[in-house]
Amino acid sequence: MRLYRAKDYDDLSRKAANVILAQVIMKPDCVLGLATGSSPLGTYRQLIEYFKAGDLDFSKVKTANLDEYRGLPRDNDQSYYYFMHENLFKHVNINMADTNIPNGMEPDSEKECLRYEQVIADLGGIDLQLLGLGHNGHIGFNEPDDTFAKITHCVDLTPSTIEANKRFFASADDVPRQAYTMGIGTIMQARRILLIVSGKDKAQILCDVINGPITPRVPASVLQLHRDVTVIADEAALAKF
Ligand code: GLP
Repeated sequence: MRLYRAKDYDDLSRKAANVILAQVIMKPDCVLGLATGSSPLGTYRQLIEYFKAGDLDFSKVKTANLDEYRGLPRDNDQSYYYFMHENLFKHVNINMADTNIPNGMEPDSEKECLRYEQVIADLGGIDLQLLGLGHNGHIGFNEPDDTFAKITHCVDLTPSTIEANKRFFASADDVPRQAYTMGIGTIMQARRILLIVSGKDKAQILCDVINGPITPRVPASVLQLHRDVTVIADEAALAKF
């Protein structure tokens, strides 16, 4: 793992966007694995700036998002489809047909999970996977568990994740209880991984992820086994290093 120290959230966002910019320049038809949450917002803003300045071309880029709430339609403003559209896709020259997100409205979870794995396989795998980090160590929606989930699956969200994500909904009761997420195995197959972590509330879990034992109780700890992981964290998140 390569660990880069950023001064603050803006610095982190610029550094992360630079890694993605370099990826797209080196391979214009690359497959980007994308994430939602507050962590990548600044990164997406910077990518939009690069696009507007003429430094970044998304016309050949393909994307696959990590996860989606189960039961939320695309036009719900809390769906991850909506998030990606509002915060990145509608601002750049990406072909929407080349963007992929699990279909939260497919009721047959087995069918949807197998379909999504096939989508990623048909893309030829992910070149660079962007990840945020949950307060409990989750990546995508891979919650702490007894085992590492291998492929895309349907998860029951933990009370702590529902609590953390309720800020985006009218109340905790409105947070969906389930989500479709790439599995740990899916994520680990990405050729490169970029993990971004910001804020003092992530300081302990980041320490556990990087220095602690590899355990499905801290899902992101499995990244220690991946051969090409870049971690960019700000001073606040690195408080325990
Ligand atoms: C969410 C998402 C994750 C995200 C994480 C952290 O539940 N499913 O993909 O990385 O939680 O979110 P944030 O960046 O807002 O702290």
